Amino acid sequence: MKLLVTGGSGFIGSNFIKHWFSAHPDDSIINLDKMTYAANPRNLTEFEGKSNYQFVKGDILDEKIVDELVSQVDAIVHFAAESHVDRSIDDPSLFVRTNVLGTYNLLMAAKKYNKRFHHISTDEVFGSIEMGSDDQFNESTPYDPSSPYSASKASSDHLVRSFYKTFGLPVTISNCSNNYGPYQHPEKMIPRSITNLLTDQKIKVYGQGLNFRDWLHVEDHCRAIELILLNGKIGQTYCIGGLKKGTSNMELVKLMLKLMGKDESCLEYVADRPAHDNYAVNWDKINRELGWEPKYTFETGLQQTIDWYTTNTSWWQETKAEAEEFYKKLNSLKK
Ligand code: NAD
Ligand code: TYD
Repeated sequence: MKLLVTGGSGFIGSNFIKHWFSAHPDDSIINLDKMTYAANPRNLTEFEGKSNYQFVKGDILDEKIVDELVSQVDAIVHFAAESHVDRSIDDPSLFVRTNVLGTYNLLMAAKKYNKRFHHISTDEVFGSIEMGSDDQFNESTPYDPSSPYSASKASSDHLVRSFYKTFGLPVTISNCSNNYGPYQHPEKMIPRSITNLLTDQKIKVYGQGLNFRDWLHVEDHCRAIELILLNGKIGQTYCIGGLKKGTSNMELVKLMLKLMGKDESCLEYVADRPAHDNYAVNWDKINRELGWEPKYTFETGLQQTIDWYTTNTSWWQETKAEAEEFYKKLNSLKK
């Protein structure tokens, strides 16, 4: 197969390219990435110069580049997005352009050449699970996004589904929970907190730390995408989540403090995020139909992630400084 991976230099995209090449070494990949602040050119240096890997620096909004690349491949695996909720609260405009119009542009090219299209989406499109309830999102949960980020992803999901229903485009969609693991930008909760502890800063806990997430190791996610691409049913959506449901941020940081030999004096409670959601995902469908299940427990995955950030300090030092500048600006706007 020849794949067009969009956003392949970001967190999940680069993990996916590594995974795909280790499982399918003879396949080819074109990585189309705009190289925003979230991308890291170091993620994929191991493939530079290989005849079956091509990197194209470009924007998914660029019709000409997208048309040319889509015409050359068998399938599109669409990761490219603005992905950080806090940034979408600061400035939603780029989220609408990249996540909605960029996806539309890719869909138009996929329609022109009738190409297989897999869209990576999020559980955040479903809104929020009530505190204290055991509910979980599944493929039939109604959409109810809370942030400009999740609203833009919801719009893109609707567009993808409409191209299947209206034009018969061979699409699949996956809605996954919060990913974590190596190569994640230090603006996100787990790498931000690990790198704070590694640099003698406190973990910033939003509100009282009661909000919960469903943590999915990025390698488990990449295996799920692979199965959907190879065996998923056209027109279908698959929800993907981790083994442990409903880990509160307080449970997460306490486990992190334990694994890193620190205590609760390393926690700082800060102002909560507006419209702060809770998520948990039921992944029975992909388990039943495609035989997928997560391999990582949260504890083994978190330990592996802590080890990776501890060993790869040069990977995150620069981007961490930029991320903390962003948070400083966001906090000054709140005051
Ligand atoms: P990321 O922010 O780490 O990477 C996004 C990548 O897309 C970057 O390399 C960036 O340069 C690229 N990009 C952004 N705008 C672009 C444009 N206009 N044209 C071309 N490239 C562009 O994001 P991630 O965490 O790897 O997320 C990947 C996908 O998975 C996103 O669609 C996101 O919505 C979805 N997702 C992420 C999570 C998570 O926990 N990280 C959870 C659920 C779904
Ligand atoms: P985040 O990694 O931003 O992912 P998302 O909002 O897309 O789920 O945040 C995960 C959770 O951690 C969320 O409940 C907000 C919280 N959080 C903190 O408590 N402190 C932080 O420094 C960050 C970045 C997030």
